[in-house]
Amino acid sequence: MKKIFEGVYKENSKIFTKNLIPGKKVYNEKLVRKGNVEYRSWNPYRSKMAGAILKGLKYFPIKKDTKILYLGVASGTTASHFSDIATNGLIYGVEIAFKPMKNFVKLCQERKNMVPILEDANKPYKYEAIVEDVDFLYQDIAQKNQVEIFIKNMEKFDIEKACIMIKARSIDISMQPKKVFEKVKNEIGKHYEIKEAIRLNPYAKDHIAIFI
Ligand SMILES: C[S@@+](CC[C@H](N)C(=O)[O-])C[C@H]1O[C@@H](n2cnc3c(N)ncnc32)[C@H](O)[C@@H]1O
Repeated sequence: MKKIFEGVYKENSKIFTKNLIPGKKVYNEKLVRKGNVEYRSWNPYRSKMAGAILKGLKYFPIKKDTKILYLGVASGTTASHFSDIATNGLIYGVEIAFKPMKNFVKLCQERKNMVPILEDANKPYKYEAIVEDVDFLYQDIAQKNQVEIFIKNMEKFDIEKACIMIKARSIDISMQPKKVFEKVKNEIGKHYEIKEAIRLNPYAKDHIAIFI
């Protein structure tokens, strides 16, 4: 295993994180043991952040003590890898849908560095009393107003580092994805300096990862 970022490892073109709860799988990913350490395979077709890493991300923003506000956490597939990495940090997972949140709550019972929040990310004032001192915002919400949600949360929690996963077809189904991405980059660029923008094909069709 070669360490490529803090908490992220690579072997034979696959990436891994160290399993915080050895022996337990989260989404039927492969577990690999090397000496005393168990690693979980991080699937780029299931997690856009893994896709961004495999597509050449230069700066990985999550460290051991990072506190993350995660919008659109679903059942916690990607969040579980963040939880493997940010072992001294905290992940606030916001999700609007009850069904995936139910699975995420179960995951939070095992992984003590994750907090479930059943809320609408359009309304950050609803969870501002729970979320404290966040260093990094991660957003993966396929909604038409995903950029508006992003900026609203960045401002409310005064966050400087972030990643937003943009799905072109959710913003405008009739416009070419390339044009949607230009429009979105322009819009976000008015508020923040974009460090990296990575197309996620073939892992996620018509998606781009934008890092602030
Ligand atoms: C693409 S899925 C997220 C997958 C997840 N990020 C992962 O990688 O494991 C998008 C999620 O955003 C949630 N969502 C959509 N609109 C939302 C909103 N306004 N507030 C919070 N969550 C929302 C959906 O219910 C869905 O679970």
